[in-house]
Amino acid sequence: MNTPQTSTTPVGRRQFLKTGALASGGILLAPSIMKAQSSPNGKINLAILGYGKQGEVLTTSMLEIPNPPFHVVAVCDIWKNSIGKCRSALRKVSPDLKWYFDYQELIAAKDELGLDAVIIATPDFWHARHTNACLKAGLHVYCEKMMAKTPDEARSMVRTARETGQLLQIGHQRRSNPRYLHAYHNLTKRAELMGRFTTANGQWNRSAKPFREVNPRIAVEQDVLEKNGFENMEQFLNWRWFRDLSGGPISDLGSHQIDIFNWFFDALPKSVMASGGHDYYKDREWYDNVMAIYEYDTPNGPARAFYQTLATTGAGGGYYEYFMGDEGALRMSENPAFTKMYREASAPSWDEWASKGFIRKEEAAAAKVQTKVDVRESAPPDAYEIPVVLDKKPHTPHLENFFAAINGKAKLNSDGEHTFKSEMAIFRVNEAVAARKTLEFTKEDFEV
Ligand SMILES: NC(=O)c1ccc[n+]([C@@H]2O[C@H](COP(=O)([O-])OP(=O)(O)OC[C@H]3O[C@@H](n4cnc5c(N)ncnc54)[C@H](O)[C@@H]3O)[C@@H](O)[C@H]2O)c1
Repeated sequence: MNTPQTSTTPVGRRQFLKTGALASGGILLAPSIMKAQSSPNGKINLAILGYGKQGEVLTTSMLEIPNPPFHVVAVCDIWKNSIGKCRSALRKVSPDLKWYFDYQELIAAKDELGLDAVIIATPDFWHARHTNACLKAGLHVYCEKMMAKTPDEARSMVRTARETGQLLQIGHQRRSNPRYLHAYHNLTKRAELMGRFTTANGQWNRSAKPFREVNPRIAVEQDVLEKNGFENMEQFLNWRWFRDLSGGPISDLGSHQIDIFNWFFDALPKSVMASGGHDYYKDREWYDNVMAIYEYDTPNGPARAFYQTLATTGAGGGYYEYFMGDEGALRMSENPAFTKMYREASAPSWDEWASKGFIRKEEAAAAKVQTKVDVRESAPPDAYEIPVVLDKKPHTPHLENFFAAINGKAKLNSDGEHTFKSEMAIFRVNEAVAARKTLEFTKEDFEV
């Protein structure tokens, strides 16, 4: 079997310089790469900026990498509680860990720390300031999604990466997931098993959840909160629901999956219409449900995609991206339990690809069901599994890709330049909800 392209697909040194260190029009600053390789311990010296829930996920993911190519030298967070958690998580591997409460102090200490790169997992409205400052200080950046709170902030990050020549990876980790890479490169492009995609739908539904509660014993000081853009602890802990701090559920969850629409369609949308509302939570600033419909002109013809995110029902079918073509359908998810393929009865046989190990046929359980329904109309199509197992945490391959890119051994799978275009499709959904009409994307929307 043709193994899926992995997250660390080697690229030549020339190509790396072209794609990583010099995106377009910037000055070539190869020393940043050399610096990473010449750290005294031979490793990439790393800082974590923002050690909340996702900072912790990224750290535990990094720690499972064998012979780690990095050493975590510092953490920066405005909350003592987060710093404490990071210090205990890294006690064994980074006993010398330094900590800072202000990102400017972290950056000021970069030479002393021998810092090469920063992982940024702060709330979205901080990403542009943090990323731009780190890139300008000569550091490579892995920044969580959404890239920024506004398109212009995201554009500024792309520009800074171009000008400085530093690497900018965005946290769309599905782009490095071997199952997604196999589905894109082998099942869709090489075997063309689904025929021509005409439609996609995707969703991420979650159960109703109260706000994270404030524990006054460990609260951040009020002046620190205000200095960092939070009115109070409630806002600090639940920033996703506030309009000045986040784009709400569509950007928090939709960002992952609408990016997959764009990737698998090989296209950016030409229009979006959307509806959303405060149907459940009357007291939250962002919509608790959003539904969006995109129109595409893909290389294979027109296509449409529907996306929904509901914050009020986890029983509503989980999270996945579902692509439908005239010869089959492909349901992708970070959760392998939701991943599946279905063959149209009229499509050419998939046996050849099953024998090569690209797919695995499922037991036809539905055939055993007794039914009086006319099976010619409603028999379930043959179902197939995708036999690519990710035996790591979901974020690990994306972090490995970032480290390999720093060391000149791979091309970033979600660089700022391309990710900006993909995220532009998400930025405009809330605008479409407010406008209550179809918005057309212009060429300028996707330009930096
Ligand atoms: N890729 C993914 O699957 C994924 C999953 C969850 C979250 N995320 C992203 O990760 C980021 C963080 O999300 P989270 O769930 O960890 O949020 P969180 O609220 O749990 O953590 C945020 C952390 O940042 C710190 N912080 C806030 N402002 C700061 C500042 N100015 N300087 C330094 N530290 C600051 C907070 O004290 C906290 O420790 C967001 O951008 C989110 O969209 C990505």
